[in-house]
Amino acid sequence: MFQEIKKAQKYRKRFIESVKKFGTPQYVLVVDELKERINIINQIKKYYPNIDIYYTYKANCRPFICKLLHESDIHASVSSIFELKLALKLKAKKIIYNGPGKTREELNLAILNSDKVIINVDSFEELKEIIKISKIKNKKVSIGLRVCIKTNHDVKSNYDVKWSRFGIRREEISYILSIIKKEKNISFEGFHFHIGIKNRSPSLYKKSLKEIGKIIRALNDEEKKKIKFINIGGGFGVEGYFPRSNRNGFVAEMINKFYAFKYNYPMYKTVPIEIFIKAVIDSFKKDILSIKNIDNPKMILEPGRWFVSPCVHLLTKVIYKKGEHYAILDSSITMCSALLYEYHPISNLSNISYEMKKCNLLGSSLFHIDILGKNYYGNRLKINDILCITSMGAYMENVSWQFCKPLPKIIALSNGTMKKIKKEEDFNYRFGRDIF
Ligand SMILES: Cc1ncc(COP(=O)(O)O)c(C=O)c1O
Repeated sequence: MFQEIKKAQKYRKRFIESVKKFGTPQYVLVVDELKERINIINQIKKYYPNIDIYYTYKANCRPFICKLLHESDIHASVSSIFELKLALKLKAKKIIYNGPGKTREELNLAILNSDKVIINVDSFEELKEIIKISKIKNKKVSIGLRVCIKTNHDVKSNYDVKWSRFGIRREEISYILSIIKKEKNISFEGFHFHIGIKNRSPSLYKKSLKEIGKIIRALNDEEKKKIKFINIGGGFGVEGYFPRSNRNGFVAEMINKFYAFKYNYPMYKTVPIEIFIKAVIDSFKKDILSIKNIDNPKMILEPGRWFVSPCVHLLTKVIYKKGEHYAILDSSITMCSALLYEYHPISNLSNISYEMKKCNLLGSSLFHIDILGKNYYGNRLKINDILCITSMGAYMENVSWQFCKPLPKIIALSNGTMKKIKKEEDFNYRFGRDIF
């Protein structure tokens, strides 16, 4: 966790300047950190050059971020009509369309742009819809099949119920491929899986590649040759937080609480991405490339969280205090709802130290659960102190709720410059869709 405090300390001066210029609350994107991550992930191509990386927009779909990634040869992975329109507007060279509930409108747009869009088909019914539209529009469509992989998931657990609704079951694949074969507009190009989020080691990906290898080995040579890619999805773990609760229920939650209490919120550790992906590539070579009559498929990655989580931070101000144990902030849990289940360290930028102090840091909505944290690092809090909550770039700002206070602005810091990349929410944004 000290790494997070160090990070806040490293950027302290620039963050305070940004607050002086733009006010609080603000999300602040450190562009250099994002660029560094782009460089790091692009390095993995030395282990297997035939890799394409797609950024998953839903992690943080700010156009500024997506554009920067596209400029570095990272493509777009989208899952809604807005994201698809955005990727087209940003002139992403390649787009993947994912999701279990693609509507006709979404499929229409994806198929109209089929020169750059690959659709990862999630079900047989969806495939039928794609076939219909491709005929009406007379368009050739490239598709992948999302496979529902059962590697880790205990069938009885809730976790499995959450994930098993995605993708096509193994036993359906040969029938679906036989249907596709008869359709001249549909080009089957590969398999896709996405096996959850915040994975801290490559083991699940390795198991999944083994499963995909088995599926491919069962295909005939003609089908094997068609495979242009294996898409291993996203879900790569990232540091900078501690989970408040755990998917595996009560006991794990208690263990988490114990760790948080005894060891002062140790940040989650993950295998560094280069080692992580290298291990996945080794499995890819062993379980996929070794298959006879397969034609050197691409490996596709779709990271979201990994790119953006560590690069964006929330800056907020103390506006009132009620004694020593309650401070009211000008931000709100509605702007960063993941704090309900993740602990992100909070630093007092106005008076920084490595010492943890207890204080309930309360949001300013009238929501009883509006608590952003129960402690901070720094010296005694005063009114007008600036707090920094670090590593808030993924699934935070873009899943914020419209409730009470305006949603914050976003500032990009780059090479000594500061630029607003999203305005604070205003009256029109909140009420513009209402019919008065
Ligand atoms: C199909 C698919 N690919 C990629 C991702 C990105 O996951 P993450 O942001 O955890 O890397 C997701 C997110 O859930 C997803 O559903």
